[in-house]
Amino acid sequence: IAFPSSGAAAKFVAREIDKLVRSRNAAGKPTVLGLATGSTPVGLYRELIRLHKEDGLDLSRVITFNLDEYYPIPKEDPHSYFRWMHETLFNHVNIKWENIHIPDGTLRPDEVDAFCAEYEQKIKAAGGIDIQVLGIGRTGHIGFNEPGSPHNCRTRMVTLDSITRRDAAPGFFGEENVPAQAITMGVASIMDARRIFLMSFGEHKATITYKALEQPPTEAITASFLQDHTNATFLLDSAAAAEL
Ligand code: GLP
Repeated sequence: IAFPSSGAAAKFVAREIDKLVRSRNAAGKPTVLGLATGSTPVGLYRELIRLHKEDGLDLSRVITFNLDEYYPIPKEDPHSYFRWMHETLFNHVNIKWENIHIPDGTLRPDEVDAFCAEYEQKIKAAGGIDIQVLGIGRTGHIGFNEPGSPHNCRTRMVTLDSITRRDAAPGFFGEENVPAQAITMGVASIMDARRIFLMSFGEHKATITYKALEQPPTEAITASFLQDHTNATFLLDSAAAAEL
């Protein structure tokens, strides 16, 4: 779907989340959301906060799983996704701390594999992800599934692509300060979600959005695997849709 603006796309996704959470709340059931970081979902989170504060959206039964986290990184680091998610969304709504899951950038290397297996288990135990929110990196990554990530990969430690590190550099005051690795949910973990919304905004995303949507699925662009999902929607602004 191409929207006239990124704000309109964010509102669309917020409304879908709002509808699902309210119907689950009415049935006394949890809603499981897969969440993304980056500039793309900021408008969505702002809208969810507004719905919570002004329209009574109750997030106390919502369970969240974030896609990824830099590694290594302390939780309180200004660049950690842990901190970003709390400052951008969690601190402003009534989600319960115990329902928030974010890959842990503070693990010892020998703890990472067990953590990742447990993360997958926790998603399963929660009932699986109802709605997965995604952005897209300029390498075509979803989460931090860089080119070469196979369709069946799961939560694991990865090495970041140099384009991804360059894109993150301004926030870190230089590419050399961007962590070389990350822990990310895998392509298969993402594809297990029952519904997927990938948002892509801005002219710098136009070429990769075209490739992800209109070229055959390939490991070289992990977002292209979403073509094989039965309920995935790309939400674009007009700039990102320019090459379709
Ligand atoms: C990072 C995140 C991705 C995100 C991408 C795009 O790499 N790990 O989940 O989609 O950035 O970022 P932005 O939304 O700022 O363009």
